[in-house]
Amino acid sequence: MPENGEMNTVLPGATPTRTSPWRLCVAPMMDWTDRHCRAFHRVVAPGARLYTEMLHARALLHGDVARLLAQAPGERPTALQLGGSEPRELAAAARIGERAGFDEINLNVGCPSERVQAGRFGACLMLEPGLVADCVRAMQDAVGVPVTVKCRIGVDDQDGEADLDCFVDGLVRTTNLGVLVVHARKAWLKGLSPHENRTVPPLDYGRVHRLKERHAELTVVINGGLVDAPTSLAQLAHVDGIMLGRAAYHDPYVLALLDATLRGVEPPSRAGILRALRPYVETECSRGTPLKHISRHLLGLYQGQPGARRYRRLLTEAAVGKDTTWDRIEQALAQVGASVSVVTSGSGN
Ligand SMILES: Cc1cc2nc3c(=O)[nH]c(=O)nc-3n(C[C@H](O)[C@H](O)[C@H](O)COP(=O)(O)O)c2cc1C
Repeated sequence: MPENGEMNTVLPGATPTRTSPWRLCVAPMMDWTDRHCRAFHRVVAPGARLYTEMLHARALLHGDVARLLAQAPGERPTALQLGGSEPRELAAAARIGERAGFDEINLNVGCPSERVQAGRFGACLMLEPGLVADCVRAMQDAVGVPVTVKCRIGVDDQDGEADLDCFVDGLVRTTNLGVLVVHARKAWLKGLSPHENRTVPPLDYGRVHRLKERHAELTVVINGGLVDAPTSLAQLAHVDGIMLGRAAYHDPYVLALLDATLRGVEPPSRAGILRALRPYVETECSRGTPLKHISRHLLGLYQGQPGARRYRRLLTEAAVGKDTTWDRIEQALAQVGASVSVVTSGSGN
């Protein structure tokens, strides 16, 4: 048994055949996938493609680029997600992103928040396929890295299969789009909060599978509702890539299992993952980064494991204390290890 008494499940019967650089992606998530989170996810899943939080193109043009685009050492490959609908602004922002070392520029055509709609970007752009194509072409003319799009299967009443086909066919015909990420549920632009728009409209994976059948030339990445490794891997029989959002954040060990399975290696232990992050945590803290800015992303690591609640509590306490050093995290780890060795069923949650 590995250190800390953990069972590192190797997934049975997984025979993924696709080897696209997009085959395992972590979704862009505002306030969540900041550089500290990405540093952690990189340790969890060395083979995954990571996405930043959405940044509005204008924020990049007028803001503190070094701060907005800071990356953790070794976090690449990472895609920068941009919001906007002004082709020239997006092109200039994409150029800045490429210069900063991002491997891909992704356009957000899926966010339904009212603030975003008021700015005429995000999901409401699905109603303006010509403008999306203009934006993509402008960005493609500006950068050499792939320009990709993340969209929904539809919005409001424009949510038939023919509508999605029309949207994608137009993009493929008039741009050099090679990669499309599809959140497999529609968005309601009025009446639902962003949170509800991630839970209420039903998932329709079949729609995305048929889109891939229709566009063999397009790398299609499926997103939405993938919560465990076996069902996520099963998607790779139909599409080129899977993108996990909430599950990657709340239960990051799922990512470790997926990544290890896809790379044909043994999954690391949870404790091994945490210890591998130590140099990053120590360097950041020595520069004055509050520990809680990093530790908040680590709380899900023992999700579903005996001792998970104790781990979360100790990590939270460690982050609140003033004398926070790695030793405090080590103590939290030791507590989980002790708990794991004495608790035999999943009673710790
Ligand atoms: C807190 C949070 C923030 C999000 N921010 C973004 C964002 O900035 N850009 C984006 O394209 N999608 C964003 N999303 C949507 C996710 O990328 C993803 O499409 C959605 O959560 C569905 O995937 P999941 O079921 O695997 O979580 C966000 C989701 C969450 C939970």
